[in-house]
Amino acid sequence: MAIKNASEWVWLSGEFVPWDQATVHVSVHGLNYGSTVFEGIRAYETPDGPAIFRLADHMRRFMFSCKVARLDDGMIFTQEELEQACIELVDRNQHNACYIRPLAFRDSETLGLNGAGQKTQVTVYSVNWGRYLGEKGIDEGVDVAITSWRRVASSTMAKIGGQYINNQQISMEARRHGYAEGIALDAEGNISEGAGENLFLVIDGEIYTPPVAASILLGITRDSVVTIANDLGVTIHQQVMPREMLYMADEVFMTGTAAEITPIRSVDGIVVGAGKPGPVTKAIQKEFFGIVNGKIDDRYGWLTHVRQALPQAE
Ligand SMILES: Cc1ncc(COP(=O)(O)O)c(C=O)c1O
Repeated sequence: MAIKNASEWVWLSGEFVPWDQATVHVSVHGLNYGSTVFEGIRAYETPDGPAIFRLADHMRRFMFSCKVARLDDGMIFTQEELEQACIELVDRNQHNACYIRPLAFRDSETLGLNGAGQKTQVTVYSVNWGRYLGEKGIDEGVDVAITSWRRVASSTMAKIGGQYINNQQISMEARRHGYAEGIALDAEGNISEGAGENLFLVIDGEIYTPPVAASILLGITRDSVVTIANDLGVTIHQQVMPREMLYMADEVFMTGTAAEITPIRSVDGIVVGAGKPGPVTKAIQKEFFGIVNGKIDDRYGWLTHVRQALPQAE
């Protein structure tokens, strides 16, 4: 049962239980049919202790994903209760920084596909997790490739477990061929996103990113980059793009809770720009990491400081 970097406590349906006791039965609907919903959230180390990045936005997307998967029928927790569970979990596990995984799944009351109205279980666990694509990747960039797997035609706005088989195929194929990550095209052959990351291109100093209609997840890091870029006065285009634009871009980077802001130095073996992170990527990285690490003012109110947000003793 040893996942790497496991922590001590898991929040399971309202209780904190030791990691090894957070188990489910094999007949669980979610395990059999992928009727699960998940989130990925980071807590960062700051001078004021751990701070969770955009907690309310992540948990709002979690509740939305549950609605799409019809897991909201059997959901007995409110968004606020689940946010509090995340805060207390980070504290209880004594993390300075970590990755938080809220997970909802349909319980085992039926083997029929129609799970509407069945019970939903919710858990939140956390792990100590460094850079998803390596420390060097953030500084120097990574090599990626377009995979033969296309992003599913629609239904990409919710983080539903069963639908992430598609993302796994994209990631596994790329890594099997020696790349750090795989990029998927959408069903029309236009640029979509990475296996678990949104994509940004920089051409002549302006930013381009695929729109929601290109079968992407509306990433919270993506939204943060759009906000920062607007503030920096960089023009952003959200538009459909053919794959060749990846080869003509001066800079390419990808964003996600796991990947954070990772520059891309080559696509399909073709070097991007100068083959190293460019000025726009670096400017956005500087703002983003400055804010999440508490070194630049949290001017957008993105951080929930765990110690301040804990319930105060009577
Ligand atoms: C398919 C996909 N795209 C993009 C992202 C990036 O989203 P976020 O920045 O909210 O983590 C993720 C990660 O959640 C993802 O799974």
